Amino acid sequence: MTNALISRLTEELQTAETDGTYKKLKTIEGPIGDKVWLKDNGEVILLSSNDYLGFANHPEIVSTARDALLSYGASTASVRFICGTQDVHQTLEKDLAEFHGTEAALTYSSCWSANTGLFSAITSTGDVILSDELNHASLIDGIRMTAKDVVRKVYKHSDMEDLEAKLIEYKDAPSRMIVTDGVFSMEGDIAPLDQIVALAKKHHALVVLDDSHGLGVLGETGHGTAEHFGVMSDIDIFTGTLGKALASGTGGFVAGPKAVTETLIQKSRPHLFSNALPASVAAAGSKSLELLSRHPETVQALQEKAKNFRIRLKELGLNPLDGGSAVVPVIVGETATAIRLAGEMLKKGIFVTGFGFPVVPEGEARLRFQVSAAHTEAELEEAAQTLKSCLGGGD
Ligand SMILES: Cc1ncc(COP(=O)(O)O)c(C=O)c1O
Repeated sequence: MTNALISRLTEELQTAETDGTYKKLKTIEGPIGDKVWLKDNGEVILLSSNDYLGFANHPEIVSTARDALLSYGASTASVRFICGTQDVHQTLEKDLAEFHGTEAALTYSSCWSANTGLFSAITSTGDVILSDELNHASLIDGIRMTAKDVVRKVYKHSDMEDLEAKLIEYKDAPSRMIVTDGVFSMEGDIAPLDQIVALAKKHHALVVLDDSHGLGVLGETGHGTAEHFGVMSDIDIFTGTLGKALASGTGGFVAGPKAVTETLIQKSRPHLFSNALPASVAAAGSKSLELLSRHPETVQALQEKAKNFRIRLKELGLNPLDGGSAVVPVIVGETATAIRLAGEMLKKGIFVTGFGFPVVPEGEARLRFQVSAAHTEAELEEAAQTLKSCLGGGD
């Protein structure tokens, strides 16, 4: 039985290798920054990281984490409710709640855990969840984990007519919840949150926003997609990550009404059955939030660089997908093409990732560039020119 399974897996891996779709992990020697040192390639410009604000190796974040490591030790060695809650966790949760303007916040070991632990804990018989078709895999899986008698419906991507039709169809449900990414991670486009909020108000629904790629990136002060649309106080529940723009290590959170976070403490399985964040990471998370509020100019620099990068690609005839975020995808067609192009770019000193099926639809494989405030305009120019040369449009 086991042998048959291992043989099947080996065959599938060989097929992926032959098809050029096999994913190989690259070894980075040293910290994340605008450039990284790869074991097999040396120094390359990094356009594959979520380190949108250049915080991943920020000296204040690193020294805060180091100090907390010395004060609190390496690990809680426990889940939160047993004996895994240190004061730094509570400070971070207070900071996250304050940042989002919510009553409370609760941390998890990742946003994946937050999203997979949220929906089944707070829904009940007949409740309706309406989810954008391009939502992140963690939202999709989290919604799938709800009880059989919770109604789960997918609306067409950012399609307000479809969303409203479904809100009307389920108008008698005990509760309706609209769930959306703020920035869609594979497309780089922004959810029309102003319209979603308007529909939620009209139809008495809640809005759940996963702003993992919006926090630190959008809005004048980096409060994310809700700030971008001026609807911060209209979002009922935020989820997000400490592992992208905040780059304080890893970790995720849910911010919202106390009734929600307290229910999660009682019922959310990744919270009940998985360890707390290390104190060093929790302390670093609070430091990241503080840095973000001290440096809105870093957010504005990032926005400017992402906008310029899109313009640059367009001027070179390279057609990035439209969007206002720091995720800038260029569609190249087949999965193998995306992976081959990423390999060629890497040889020329640009680290960008190719994404193909099943992460994105068949035939829409892409290179996904992610801009950081840490990039120089010269690095971004080099990335654009290298893409053009790899696509055969010059050198
Ligand atoms: C929209 C979205 N939500 C959640 C996650 C998961 O975040 P984490 O790395 O904290 O688990 C990601 C990460 O890719 C994401 O893009």
